[in-house]
Amino acid sequence: MRSTITYRHWQPGDDDAVLKLLVPAEQCREDYYRKKFNSPSLEPEGIRLALVGQRVVGHVLGSRASLLLEGRIQDFGLVTFVFVAPDMRRQGIATRLMRNLNIYFERKGYRGSILYVETAEAYQLYQKIGYQEVTRELRTELPARPNSSELKWKEVGPEDFNILHELKKCWGTHNFPVFWNSQVIGIHQFNMKQYRVLHRGKRIIGYAKWDDPSERCPQGLIHDPIVPDEDPIEIIASVQAEITATRAWKTTQGSIYETPLRLSYGCILKQGKMVDMVASLGKDIDLTKIHRTVW
Ligand SMILES: CC(C)(COP(=O)(O)OP(=O)(O)OC[C@H]1O[C@@H](n2cnc3c(N)ncnc32)[C@H](O)[C@@H]1OP(=O)(O)O)[C@@H](O)C(=O)NCCC(=O)NCCS
Repeated sequence: MRSTITYRHWQPGDDDAVLKLLVPAEQCREDYYRKKFNSPSLEPEGIRLALVGQRVVGHVLGSRASLLLEGRIQDFGLVTFVFVAPDMRRQGIATRLMRNLNIYFERKGYRGSILYVETAEAYQLYQKIGYQEVTRELRTELPARPNSSELKWKEVGPEDFNILHELKKCWGTHNFPVFWNSQVIGIHQFNMKQYRVLHRGKRIIGYAKWDDPSERCPQGLIHDPIVPDEDPIEIIASVQAEITATRAWKTTQGSIYETPLRLSYGCILKQGKMVDMVASLGKDIDLTKIHRTVW
């Protein structure tokens, strides 16, 4: 006989039962979740639980995120953890939890719900609920090619932070999904070494997340440069002029770099694991004229 499953949002006192589901399954670090439960920004209704008696058998976590879309900053529901106990799967638990979460997002007036997925079963789950694929991660290798690019990549300095913040905002009007918070400058003194800025003469026209080669990542990793309104072919050439050996490059299907990398540079683009998906809440989101980007 099937057990009776009840559904509700998180309440104070649920912490241990949630962690008993997630921690042994290595879904999260205990300290991360304890901090979340105690945070003043906790949205209890964004944590949906499925229970059999006192046992938590399913859990989804959603929170608010600001994204640039349709020319303005809009609130979205961001889904980060979805997990159902192995012995309780294929009974519609995740479906129900996700539907309840999206009802909450809709009540909050969010424009959509966004998530990324790495497994085929979760992809099917989200598709059934009404999520659509936004983009898929692609990886390639870009060979070094000395050339005389007018554009120069340089280290980031604290004096650059404001302009990089503004460039990201411009990028977000033509690319999706771009998380953007007008109050928070994403590049700061603690992470600036992971980035490079692109100069045309004295003017900064863009930047990129730029991991140099390391033991873990021997080819380094360059993410699609955030350079609004410039020719992607020229941007790629500037990267080739900067690197001294082949570098890994992370892009997505539908990015402004996808076709130039493939056709102008002859790169072979292989699919990575991550797929970004979005569900519209209310009016359909029209992404047909917007390029895709990496989260
Ligand atoms: C993915 C997961 C959350 C699904 O939970 P669930 O409660 O079993 O899902 P549901 O019963 O609501 O399934 C809904 C649909 O999703 C798809 N689905 C779920 N599990 C699947 C599987 N193992 N293989 C193929 N499709 C699957 C099916 O289309 C299913 O509909 P159906 O049963 O009518 O065929 C669960 O398997 C899990 O916790 N996996 C490990 C963590 C994880 O991958 N989380 C997602 C991170 S993005």
